[in-house]
Amino acid sequence: MIFYITTPIYYVNDIAHIGHSYTTIAADIIARWKRLNNFDVFFLTGTDEHGAKIAAAAKEKGKTPQDLCDEMSAKFKEVWKLLNISYTDFIRTTEQRHFTAVEKIIQILFNKRFIFKKKYEGLYCVGCERFYPQKDIDENGCCPFHKTKPILQSEENYFFKLSAFQDSILKRITNPNHKEHIEIQPEERKNEIIGKLKNGLEDISLSRSIVEWGIPLPFDKKQTVYVWVDALINYITGIGYPENTTKFQKYWPADVHLMAKDILWFHAVIWPAILMGAELPLPKQVYAHGFFTLNGDKMSKSLGNVISPQELVNKYGVDASRYLTVTITPFGSDGDISWQGLTLKYNTDLANNLGNLVSRTIKMADKYFNLKVPQTNFDLDLVKKVAGFLKENFIVNMNNMQLHKASQALQNAIALVNKQIECDAPWKTAKTDADKLASYIYSYLQAADIIALYLLPFMPGTAEKIWHIMGASGNINEIAKKYFADFIIPKNGFSISKSQLQNTESLFPRISLTVVFNKKRLK
Ligand code: MSP
Repeated sequence: MIFYITTPIYYVNDIAHIGHSYTTIAADIIARWKRLNNFDVFFLTGTDEHGAKIAAAAKEKGKTPQDLCDEMSAKFKEVWKLLNISYTDFIRTTEQRHFTAVEKIIQILFNKRFIFKKKYEGLYCVGCERFYPQKDIDENGCCPFHKTKPILQSEENYFFKLSAFQDSILKRITNPNHKEHIEIQPEERKNEIIGKLKNGLEDISLSRSIVEWGIPLPFDKKQTVYVWVDALINYITGIGYPENTTKFQKYWPADVHLMAKDILWFHAVIWPAILMGAELPLPKQVYAHGFFTLNGDKMSKSLGNVISPQELVNKYGVDASRYLTVTITPFGSDGDISWQGLTLKYNTDLANNLGNLVSRTIKMADKYFNLKVPQTNFDLDLVKKVAGFLKENFIVNMNNMQLHKASQALQNAIALVNKQIECDAPWKTAKTDADKLASYIYSYLQAADIIALYLLPFMPGTAEKIWHIMGASGNINEIAKKYFADFIIPKNGFSISKSQLQNTESLFPRISLTVVFNKKRLK
């Protein structure tokens, strides 16, 4: 079973912020989930390094574009390492392998007469790296995204006959039975795309004569390939196109292209048209999640309100940052975030719910059995209940990219065990029935075990830590793969060691909200 997932390739004019890490962590969670389900996963991310925007950023910093790209793509890689992102490959559009792929695709489109020359005048937003038709410019004459005035540019460019693909794209998006169906998610964003498609498609400029920092057109070296067309092709370069046919055929078409709604149009319409023009299969799904705002404002460097992944990690640790980033808002919808909201969720879900479950169970094992809980014929009811609940509520949501719902199922399962502990009141049983007490505590350990398996995609380090703390036997990843194949509850021996007791305390220390209310940060 093959699974190919991609993130957008990020512009290197700036460093990664929480918006970029949102998509990348989400893709990582899905990639890890698929691996645990025994898929052969290819997970591609990378950096988008050409175009006017990058050239301008380099100039501003007094660097060559290539130096800026080398420096910034290395920074993206560092952030992904920090966040434990398990990508298979990291593509940079300045690599030779990408030049080869772009030249090949452009040449095919040219040979098939999908490319023609035309004089064009239009309003160009460098921030978006695209021309805007007058009707899409806002009432102040600005780009709807960047709120800056686009530049009037007049050029003789090569154009791509996007209009030729209007009907075929519409059919492929709207008809789920089409053999080349592209599923656009979420539904309301699909409807926006359909609406726009029905209004008609205009041909798009495919080259720039005034942008030097790009890939020269194979048939006219005086022009460079438009950065968006260049960038989209990364999705096939990354899996070996055109030279490694075996690898390419193994992974293409992509199962999911993941991104935010800002760039859905490029992925849902322009990319399929390029692929159709080149007679290549289309991606199976394009998923556009929502946009973060911070305390109600668009995050931007100029407003000075950008949250960086490093800041998050300093405050919450790696796994909690991964968890909070993807679960703080419903996946697919826009959402406003704040430090206060993140900390509240950290305390509720991680310190109080998950941390508490692990810590109280281990403490009871220590207090009542000196960490050697006898394996009496324990009652499997609780474990079965937790396992059944997760099987029913977690899996379906993960497979539908409803990451916030899947994580909520996990929280509910943890709460279920915490409630059971309250209800059993083992501290009372301790006075009367040692066998029953052992069976209680053993069942909590077993339930926490199952929870740790489901925690793996979201918090791989924490899941493993919990596994170690409980002294559960075997490699958690291997056991998880087996578990998700047949759902037979592993019967674990637990050999908890004294040294692990401290680790329990430091899993998720509570964070005081006063620390978070740093006046400088909040409006
Ligand atoms: N280089 C293009 C993508 C080319 S893909 C062939 C680009 N780069 S970008 O650096 O601007 O990244 C845009 C993506 O970053 C969004 O689609 C989303 O995945 C992520 N996000 C950036 N800011 C975000 C938010 N504020 N909220 C959520 N995601 C955001 O566009």
